[in-house]
Amino acid sequence: MSRINHQIHLASRPQGEPTAENFKLVEAAVPALTEGQVLVRNHYLSLDPYMRGRMNDGKSYAQPQPLGEVMLGGTVGEVVESLNANFKPGDKVVGMGGWQEYQLVDASQRGVLQKVDTSHIPLSAYLGAVGMPGVTAWYGLVKIINPKPGETVVVSAASGAVGGAVGQLAKVRGARAVGIAGGADKCRYVVEELGFDACIDYKAHQDVKSLSAALKAACPNGIDGYFENVGGMILDAVLLRANAFSRVAMCGMISGYNGEPIPMSAPQLILVNRMKIEGFIVSEHMEVWPEALKELGTLVATGKLKYRESVAEGIASAPEAFLGLLKGKNFGKQIVKLI
Ligand SMILES: NC(=O)c1ccc[n+]([C@@H]2O[C@H](COP(=O)([O-])OP(=O)(O)OC[C@H]3O[C@@H](n4cnc5c(N)ncnc54)[C@H](OP(=O)(O)O)[C@@H]3O)[C@@H](O)[C@H]2O)c1
Repeated sequence: MSRINHQIHLASRPQGEPTAENFKLVEAAVPALTEGQVLVRNHYLSLDPYMRGRMNDGKSYAQPQPLGEVMLGGTVGEVVESLNANFKPGDKVVGMGGWQEYQLVDASQRGVLQKVDTSHIPLSAYLGAVGMPGVTAWYGLVKIINPKPGETVVVSAASGAVGGAVGQLAKVRGARAVGIAGGADKCRYVVEELGFDACIDYKAHQDVKSLSAALKAACPNGIDGYFENVGGMILDAVLLRANAFSRVAMCGMISGYNGEPIPMSAPQLILVNRMKIEGFIVSEHMEVWPEALKELGTLVATGKLKYRESVAEGIASAPEAFLGLLKGKNFGKQIVKLI
């Protein structure tokens, strides 16, 4: 039986903001399996901000996404055919299946496909709270900020996949968690559902002075740790409230992903406050993944780590959902349901 695979390819590289025209929906037949291969029916595709950087051709920590090929991306799904002794039909797996319905993979290469247990954790969570975004939150918070009980941790993009986990992990460690997010609905969710102590709507504060005054009110003891997801004006406002010896985990700067300039207005505050600022890429710290996933998995399975998903339906919806993610239209982890 020949199967048809619908895929999204990168058709052209964006100049500034990407558009739907940068992507192309392609239909391809699934080839027959050869020894060692596994065919996975992808159930969910993860859409992540890093994909914007890969659409460019410039120098970065990762290779550019090749033109005319399936967009790269994390997926979870089910094995439907296998010529590999380690996998059998019905196994639930996580991998880098890309923006497509089926993934044919040589599973004899170690680590390309991981089996996951869905008895206590929903399959899609392995793309979010119990996957790459969760480990990202864990690494930046635990290994860089390392909050002590009573300290204040601030995180931007606080309602998102990474940000939501950061604040909850900070609370587990006895810290005060303050989010920054776009809009009253997202802020309400961050406080009422995720249990942060406060959340500031940056859209209600149009300049650094106003945002930093709001931070002062929400962080009466100053800021000891900042988990940076956005950059620009938000970083400037946080620096104005940073305590001596505070730590910044530089995770992402989404406000500059389309090439917008995001200068720092007062970098001297790093010196004045003797701050530690450390950038990191989660895939370069595979040694922490087992420990991080153990904590994240336990917290999700016991209902102590909450998360929310924005679900787009069908592979054809992936480009629009991705463009929306870059504009904050998502509310929680952005995924695409493929079956
Ligand atoms: N270093 C690493 O290894 C690593 C790994 C994973 C993710 N990251 C980074 O972590 C950050 C969060 O990723 P995520 O997957 O959790 O995404 P997300 O927060 O679920 O979604 C992105 C959010 O960013 C906010 N945003 C978008 N454009 C913005 C702008 N111009 N100004 C301010 N906020 C904007 C929006 O929230 P609002 O509506 O609240 O503005 C949007 O919902 C990103 O910067 C990403 O690149 C880094």
